[in-house]
Amino acid sequence: KKNVFQFKVVLLGESAVGKSSMVFRFVNNTFSEKIESTIGATYINYELDLGDYFAKLQIWDTAGQERYHSLTPMYYRGAKGAFIVYDVTSYDSFERAKDWVNELRSEGSPDAKIMLIGNKIDLERIVKKEEVMEYVKKEQLLYHECSAKSGVGVRDAFFELTKSIPIE
Ligand code: GTP
Ligand code: MG
Repeated sequence: KKNVFQFKVVLLGESAVGKSSMVFRFVNNTFSEKIESTIGATYINYELDLGDYFAKLQIWDTAGQERYHSLTPMYYRGAKGAFIVYDVTSYDSFERAKDWVNELRSEGSPDAKIMLIGNKIDLERIVKKEEVMEYVKKEQLLYHECSAKSGVGVRDAFFELTKSIPIE
């Protein structure tokens, strides 16, 4: 019988980058253009079969709107994995993602695995890939690109982040 390990995972990033859409794509395999902006945070459990063991994820999807910023430490505290999401069509969202990396490194669990995500790759990219890769290398982050709309890359990102979390 396989072991079950429980991990808290959090999604952070500017409002409208597609955090909730990624979670819906991953959990329900659905997408909506008319999704509502998250208030505070939402929480969902999802179990992944990683072959050697099961990973029971507690996924915390936070609100990106600035007025909820003071609440977020509550959600990333104790997280073993974090997705920091930006929108490949928005430089502002990439700059905001860098702030999240800094905040998580200084205030979050020191051993948390951080995966930067470039979402909305179904649209025309504005943020230069080379610039992102340089940053990712400098900060030693995991990196994935995806589209919650088409679904491409979403499952891979969740699996890869989860597999990177050490089990005791
Ligand atoms: P907050 O809850 O406010 O922090 O936003 P969020 O990051 O959860 O974004 P949300 O998932 O609500 O998506 C914002 C908008 O972007 C919605 O209109 C989505 O339909 C759209 N969207 C999300 N992902 C994608 C994507 O991969 N491609 C495209 N084209 N649109 C997307
Ligand atoms: Mg949301």
